[in-house]
Amino acid sequence: MSEVVKREKWGSKIGFILAAAGSAIGLGNIWKFPYIAGDNGGAAFVFIYLISILVIGLPVLIAEVLIGRTTSLNPVGAFRKLSHGSKFWTAVGGMGVLAGFLILSYYAVVAGWSLGYIVESIKGVFFEFKTPAEAGHYFNSLISNVWWIVGYFALFMALSMFVVIFGVQKGIEKGSKILMPLLFVLMLVLVIRGLTLDGASEGMKFLWYPDWSAVTGETILLALGQAFFTLSLGMGAMLTYGSYMSKSDNIPVSAFEIVTLDTLIALLAGIAIFTAVFATGLRPDSGPGLIFYTLPIVFTKMPGGYIFSILFFILLSIAALTSAISLLEVITAYFVDEKGWSRKKAVLVFGTVTFIIGIPSALSYNVLADVHIFGRNFFDTVDFLSANILLPLGGLLIALFVGYFWKTENALSALKEGAESFFGKYGWFAVYWKIFIKYFAPVLIAIVFLKSIGII
Ligand code: PHE
Repeated sequence: MSEVVKREKWGSKIGFILAAAGSAIGLGNIWKFPYIAGDNGGAAFVFIYLISILVIGLPVLIAEVLIGRTTSLNPVGAFRKLSHGSKFWTAVGGMGVLAGFLILSYYAVVAGWSLGYIVESIKGVFFEFKTPAEAGHYFNSLISNVWWIVGYFALFMALSMFVVIFGVQKGIEKGSKILMPLLFVLMLVLVIRGLTLDGASEGMKFLWYPDWSAVTGETILLALGQAFFTLSLGMGAMLTYGSYMSKSDNIPVSAFEIVTLDTLIALLAGIAIFTAVFATGLRPDSGPGLIFYTLPIVFTKMPGGYIFSILFFILLSIAALTSAISLLEVITAYFVDEKGWSRKKAVLVFGTVTFIIGIPSALSYNVLADVHIFGRNFFDTVDFLSANILLPLGGLLIALFVGYFWKTENALSALKEGAESFFGKYGWFAVYWKIFIKYFAPVLIAIVFLKSIGII
């Protein structure tokens, strides 16, 4: 234990908000959200997603940040402390650290594609394609090149390690303060470009006028799962960021701001992408390849497409970077708090370990393309295991812990610290949070979880 070294804190309130919003806003918003919405009928999915954010997202986010702030520890230490040493709950924290390794190991592979696409867009290769199929073929040829995929993956890991080594204030907070405003500006530029294209209104209709006939039970589950992933919940990233907060910070208001920023960026990404897709006569439902196959074609067809293609992939890489650093910070905080390691050593050793764990994911598109585990390639297996199993399971346990072990009354009195005047004005918020964390969130997350492992 490193009681000797004083634990860092955020330098400012806005520093925490931007860092946590940076964690939340990532590939989940700009890559996943638009393609899932595109595959599931647009507006109807968006509506259910927004409800999921309020029903599960906000209450669980508050719970995670609260556990972190109350204990000022990493997920393992935090659960151990609040549960008075229970082995079970300590292991729940450990599961979060493990999920951090796994998610980062494949997340950084996709982020590497985005870095690689900055270079491709600068080279102007998209202008040689006429159809998404040609763009898709090119994408496949890139990811089947071991050096291309592993090289950009390594570069992205190195960038994340670089930021985290500098620590909470000088690394994560400072990085987020520069990168997040840049991300907003780039996003607004892309939204304005999308909205001013001829035929943009078709894309807006798709995003805002619900077609309820496209909604099935599956849509609801996808929306719930997405609400979870996009807010970085279930593995202790928000808990760890919360652990650097001060007792005078207002958690409900901060959580509300983070959720608002995350949702705003997902919706703006939806506007930027669907206006462009519809204006150029392409289809919205092309799945995970939407931004890698379809957007390059969109860029070739739009005025100023060359510049906008470069901006887009820079934006995507920035968003991925601020999420990746939160994943790496969970692992780092664990080794610093629990094992007394220096930050530098923890980042260098476990950044490298994560890179090594990720290599089979990177090779899933080339050397290991024929290796399948229960019908999935290695990449999809790690993605499924972490995003569909470990995250919902972690979230479920967090909600149960707060609702039944720590007890909502105790949690609530911790939550009121720093938020006295807020609760004075909005007393109903305490009731909302208690009911949702104790009843709604566990039941709904349990359904998502059981569904994703095929039990229901
Ligand atoms: N929220 C991130 C995104 O939307 C992903 C993430 C999940 C980051 C879990 C940290 C923890 O891309």
